[in-house]
Amino acid sequence: MSDTKELVLKYLEENKDSFSSGEEIANHLKLSRNSVWKAIKSLRNSGYQIEAATHRGYHLVGDMDLITLKGISDNLLPGIAQDRIHVYKQIESTNKTAKGAAAFDAPHGTCIIAESQTLGSGRKKRPFFSPKGGIYMSVILTPDKLPFKNTSLVTAYIAVCVCNSIEALTGKKPMIKWSNDIYIDNRKICGILTESAGDLDTGELSWIVAGIGINFAVDTGTFPKEMRSHAGSLFVPEKAPLSKNDLIAEILNNILLKGKNIDILKSYRNRSLVLSKDVTVYDKDNSYPAKAVSIDDMGKLVVSLPDGSSKTLTHEEIRIEL
Ligand code: BTN
Repeated sequence: MSDTKELVLKYLEENKDSFSSGEEIANHLKLSRNSVWKAIKSLRNSGYQIEAATHRGYHLVGDMDLITLKGISDNLLPGIAQDRIHVYKQIESTNKTAKGAAAFDAPHGTCIIAESQTLGSGRKKRPFFSPKGGIYMSVILTPDKLPFKNTSLVTAYIAVCVCNSIEALTGKKPMIKWSNDIYIDNRKICGILTESAGDLDTGELSWIVAGIGINFAVDTGTFPKEMRSHAGSLFVPEKAPLSKNDLIAEILNNILLKGKNIDILKSYRNRSLVLSKDVTVYDKDNSYPAKAVSIDDMGKLVVSLPDGSSKTLTHEEIRIEL
């Protein structure tokens, strides 16, 4: 979103309880009336409901729990660079945009956030349902700035940070279904997709994009058929006791600052939904029963098979009866 649009949106959001004339907005933001008018037109085109009344001015309609830079920044810890956060109303995929930015050396902590995605991507190239009401965010991380050395633990780290954030703000107890699905009350409310690029010669990663998709306050009745048996939403639409901005800020605080003190593997194991449970392992077209035994020091799941042997899963997926 352009700076002018973001400024006008922020102003309208802060003055949601009254009407503001174009002149007032322009004076306050030190903009021309024409650019305010253009920004309002463009915000409306992007889907924001902005009412206009003769002699009174403009007014942002409804409690839309908008994601805004201002709303996020209000709760960010000092030390987190706000100018690295970019908020979009709708985007194809926050991971796609973040990967593009990372390829152009966007720094650690750059974050792309959207209220909805038109081409959200999940693991194994599956589409990720991304309607309004969710939180879709991708954070660029560079290995030199991570609070740990072993980059194979990034996905576990992100999952733990998201769980800790949700628990801190809601009191709910999120659990992790290996490898990186977050469940509350036995329903998946969040998926994580980490992508990276590196140097083939040294084997070192240059950047990591951690994409997080949360069903924050999504009407579960709108879920596609294939999601209905296992997916849920953190809150019921319009009944969320906190804003999306609050949760986004807490997640960034955890990933970029607070998380440096956590014992990743201990927390990841403690939050496991699958340890000591019977699971079905899916490997391409093949599937077989197993029991989840442990999580090794690389974050991989070790399962025991019916013939008594054990196997360490890497790329496979598991399903569990809940
Ligand atoms: C999964 O459950 O398969 C992982 C889903 C990851 C979805 C998030 S939403 C934000 C980011 N942008 C994407 O296109 N995907 C990730």
